[in-house]
Amino acid sequence: MSQLDVKTAEFYDQFWPKSVPVLDKTREYVAMTVSEAHVGRALDAGCGHGICSVALSERADQVVGVDVSSECIQTARKQAEHFGRKNISFERQDLQNLSLPDTSFDLVWCWGVAMMAPDPMKVIHNLMRVTKPGGVIYLGLYLKTWLTPFHELTRHFCRTFMNGPRRKKFVCDFFTALTHVHGTLVGRQTNLRTDNISIQAQVEDWYYPPYKTFYSIEEIVELFRRNGFEANCIQDRVGRIKSATIFVVKAVRNA
Ligand SMILES: C[S@@+](CC[C@H](N)C(=O)[O-])C[C@H]1O[C@@H](n2cnc3c(N)ncnc32)[C@H](O)[C@@H]1O
Repeated sequence: MSQLDVKTAEFYDQFWPKSVPVLDKTREYVAMTVSEAHVGRALDAGCGHGICSVALSERADQVVGVDVSSECIQTARKQAEHFGRKNISFERQDLQNLSLPDTSFDLVWCWGVAMMAPDPMKVIHNLMRVTKPGGVIYLGLYLKTWLTPFHELTRHFCRTFMNGPRRKKFVCDFFTALTHVHGTLVGRQTNLRTDNISIQAQVEDWYYPPYKTFYSIEEIVELFRRNGFEANCIQDRVGRIKSATIFVVKAVRNA
């Protein structure tokens, strides 16, 4: 097995098995995002819990789910079995060193993953490499905003000083309370996911991953264009977690 990002694997080993999203909402989001009604081969790059793989398997002949975390792969396999999906296979791999053949996928789904690698560009170049001419990549990344340096300072603080179970719980509860207060003040509920992921889990996923990189939409669209893709941002700050922090670019490889 090629080299793995062990720190990220360890974080997600303990994260997704305890927070699997519900299929219905994920299926709705995939249907809203993916415009291809049916494809041959799809890659769920950084499949985590495997629920997106299940949703994709309803519109692909075959899905391959890849994740760096062995516990995620086990969780994803259980989900595929639970939903009776026989056209998905899962592999533990690091997307930075992805060992899958060139031009082998019609659709690549990589949502909330690439920017968690120590070298996200290696991941993105591998996604481009495995996409067939005429094939499509859906890439969801963290958006760089004026708040990014503050978030990053908080993440480093949390990982350095607030990393024991009780301190981590304190941080997650604190930001959850803050979210509720903000929701009350602005008169609406903010940051709530409808797919059964608690705010505490969202806080943990925001402030505790070992690596994070933020991008502007323009630099990612330009990156795809330089590499022979037609790219557009299709969701700007309104990903499936109704978040101000994720944007999704759709990139079609020139035939
Ligand atoms: C925020 S979760 C997103 C999971 C899923 N794509 C979703 O949309 O819910 C990030 C996932 O990417 C995986 N991941 C992060 N870096 C990776 C890498 N270099 N190679 C493979 N998987 C990676 C993590 O293990 C984790 O399961």
